Amino acid sequence: ALAAAGCGSPASNGAGQGDANSGEPIVIKFSHVTTPDSPKGQAAEKFKELAEQKTNGRVKVEVFPSGQLYGDKEELEALQAGNVQMIAPSVTKLVGLNPAFQIVDMPFLFNSREAVLKFWDGELGQKLMKSLEPHGILGLAMWENGFKQFTNSKRPLKRPEDFKGLKFRTQAGKVLEAQFKALGAGAATIPFNETYVALQQGTVDGQENTFNNIDTQRYAEVQKYLTVSNHGRLDYVVLVNKSFWEGLPEDIRKALEEALKEATEFERQLAYELDQKSFENLKKAGMEVYELTEEDKEAFRKALEPVYAEFADVIGKEFIDGARALK
Ligand code: LMR
Repeated sequence: ALAAAGCGSPASNGAGQGDANSGEPIVIKFSHVTTPDSPKGQAAEKFKELAEQKTNGRVKVEVFPSGQLYGDKEELEALQAGNVQMIAPSVTKLVGLNPAFQIVDMPFLFNSREAVLKFWDGELGQKLMKSLEPHGILGLAMWENGFKQFTNSKRPLKRPEDFKGLKFRTQAGKVLEAQFKALGAGAATIPFNETYVALQQGTVDGQENTFNNIDTQRYAEVQKYLTVSNHGRLDYVVLVNKSFWEGLPEDIRKALEEALKEATEFERQLAYELDQKSFENLKKAGMEVYELTEEDKEAFRKALEPVYAEFADVIGKEFIDGARALK
């Protein structure tokens, strides 16, 4: 019966509960907002493949990419309501549950990719993930995307004063709003899957994102200028509905944990490779690129000091100092 359930279409023995004995597979709906070829999209498919293989088909994973099932805000609510079992939102989007997640948005905080990975795999990152539990959510892994860069349609952005009067799309949260305000610019939170149109129609002049998101969302069609700033991070936390996960039979949960561990290794390697590849794609697509010099960065750090003054306590000194100390 288990083998039959592994062959694809759900068994129809009438039980319908997806429990371990019914012969019907347990279904995990995995919803996300990026394209199937993004690192998150490919890793979700990898997790599906590994999870189904390691449970001999007792688990079936259904992946819904590109926000086709739920957008930014809805996916978190859907996870809590149990309408999906797994999502991998960008860390910033958890701000409503714990403002400390905005650590990833503090400008020029993380020194390197390695520092970011150490943060999430270490005590501080784990502490942040644990803070989700009272909300009925378990944070199981961090998936990488990369450092954020600025794009816009109006002019090259080389120094803080170049931002004056422009309006930028942000993912969520007050830190990003404060960042643009400190640069004399406006900000508007717009769901990821509505951002292309907002840029195209000029609702906003620019946005900040990783090379890979800029590339896979085809922003080069509607944005002329790219500033390589590496000023903030965009990474994901893989989240599951807590009561769903804890209600799984022990052996299934173990198999899924293994599948997720392997998918996470795959994802991080891929994100790292695609980051550079996407940068090349953006140059080929005709974007005009400016890379901030050390001197430019100093000017930005200075202009962005008000963000630290305002948010150091909101995020917590422990997290900010801890992140900054990592090499
Ligand atoms: C964004 O909204 O820009 C990103 O969080 C999208 C994503 O999931 O990478």
